[in-house]
Amino acid sequence: MATILAIESSCDETSAAICLDGNIISNHIATQSVHEKYGGVVPELASRAHMANIVPVVQAALQTANVEINNIDAVAFTQSPGLIGSLLVGAEFAKSLALALDKPLIAVHHMQAHVIANLIEEPRPSFPFLCLTVSGGHTQIVLCESPLQMRVLGETIDDAAGEAFDKSAKLLGLPYPGGPLIDKYAKEGNGNRFRFPEPQIPELNFSFSGLKTSILYFLQNAGTSLVYKEEFRATEEARAKFIGENLPDICASIQQRIISILLNKLKKAAAQTGIRDICLAGGVSANSGLRNSFTQLGQELGWNTFIPSFQYCTDNAGMIAMTAHYKFIAGEFESLNTTVSARAAW
Ligand code: KG4
Ligand code: ZN
Repeated sequence: MATILAIESSCDETSAAICLDGNIISNHIATQSVHEKYGGVVPELASRAHMANIVPVVQAALQTANVEINNIDAVAFTQSPGLIGSLLVGAEFAKSLALALDKPLIAVHHMQAHVIANLIEEPRPSFPFLCLTVSGGHTQIVLCESPLQMRVLGETIDDAAGEAFDKSAKLLGLPYPGGPLIDKYAKEGNGNRFRFPEPQIPELNFSFSGLKTSILYFLQNAGTSLVYKEEFRATEEARAKFIGENLPDICASIQQRIISILLNKLKKAAAQTGIRDICLAGGVSANSGLRNSFTQLGQELGWNTFIPSFQYCTDNAGMIAMTAHYKFIAGEFESLNTTVSARAAW
């Protein structure tokens, strides 16, 4: 029997979870709303909010799980990637706790944990499986051979899928984070109305910066063209009128293109590897259009498709705790001298 306390603080969610023998029995998340008015995560404010949230969140996780802190067998934390100041709060808290309790410390890679989120609940994929991880900071196709053996087959060369949603929303004048709002308006719109280009990127990599540029020009030109030309530029009033009258169709068309970029690469990865157990992960997998298209594609191609429940899609300590469970079994512990890293390969 092993009871693991895990902490996640890589970006703007402070989270703590308890894993008891491979079962997540509590998962608490404190979301930071302080960033909304700035249109993006402000690193310094994120670190301060983690400092304020971490003790109550850990206490809540212990209480829900009905676990005494002295009965913890290991302490896990997110080591990389993320905002340095945010990561440090979770890491230093976890190290201090491990030292005080004289228990082992387990360091977890955040992107590996997003993939492992698919192993938390039934139905679980069989190994090997593919995972499309789509979040605000990352877009990756990962081949997972066993819980601790993973390989990135492709990833974005510029913006992440979540950034593509959020930056498009910003251009439309929608508040941060705009991804869920695009999803909401897209439900009432026609995704075939406006055709944004699909980039031709080699192998299994992604790019979203070209899409963002075409959306920028498209809106500047009030929908008349996707390219930049002074004579195409519309007045402020004309742009606002165009957006106001066509918001659902614009959102549906943007969303449709982001989804086709993602799923065409996933289809290619499945064909190349012959793997049929395919998962989604990350905050963008909350997108209803992506979920529907992914499930439908899976039915057409004979895949077994998996999407974690919402609380395990966005940043959460449950996925960190689950990864730590496998590391605990493998005896993969970390020295108390360890530190965090903004970017680190697996
Ligand atoms: O995984 P996550 O919670 O945090 C990161 O690690 O980045 O992902 C956050 C991202 C944001 O870009 C947010 O706009 C996007 O996920 N997102 C969505 C939806 N819900 C969250 N994007 C599109 N549609 C949604 N329903
Ligand atoms: Zn994440």
